[in-house]
Amino acid sequence: MPVERTLSIVKPDGVARNLIGEVYRRFEAAGLKVIAARMLQLGEREARSFYAVHKERPFYADLVRYMTSGPVVVQVLAGEGAIAKNRDIMGATDPKKAAQGTIRADLAESIERNVVHGSDAAETAADEIAFFFRSTELYPR
Ligand code: CMP
Repeated sequence: MPVERTLSIVKPDGVARNLIGEVYRRFEAAGLKVIAARMLQLGEREARSFYAVHKERPFYADLVRYMTSGPVVVQVLAGEGAIAKNRDIMGATDPKKAAQGTIRADLAESIERNVVHGSDAAETAADEIAFFFRSTELYPR
């Protein structure tokens, strides 16, 4: 399986509930490497742009409000099959549907406040990584 990179976000609920370390522990235990990381608070324009694919969805305005409500931690994860592996570690978007032992099943409060975001495919991963990081900020360079 090829080595891939994927974009991950610990969302405002995850940061507020002191879950950064628990989320990172799960990535590292699964063999994913954190190759870039930063804490930041998204502005409204940034959040609207990041989630533009959902702009027609009824939950879009709430999603933007929630994603701008506090700091997030963004990271690039690298490893064999990193995109699918990260999605397996996160579990389904809706914690009620997420498999046992996943971040969302174990830790998420709702379908919106679901602790983490992860890229869903190679193309979105490249776009989402570029949204937050310059190529010179990824290690090893
Ligand atoms: P994420 O994987 O970051 O992608 C889009 C986000 O929108 C999702 O996680 C949830 O936080 C949110 N979301 C998706 N579906 C719904 C929904 N039906 N109701 C509210 N929020 C949703």
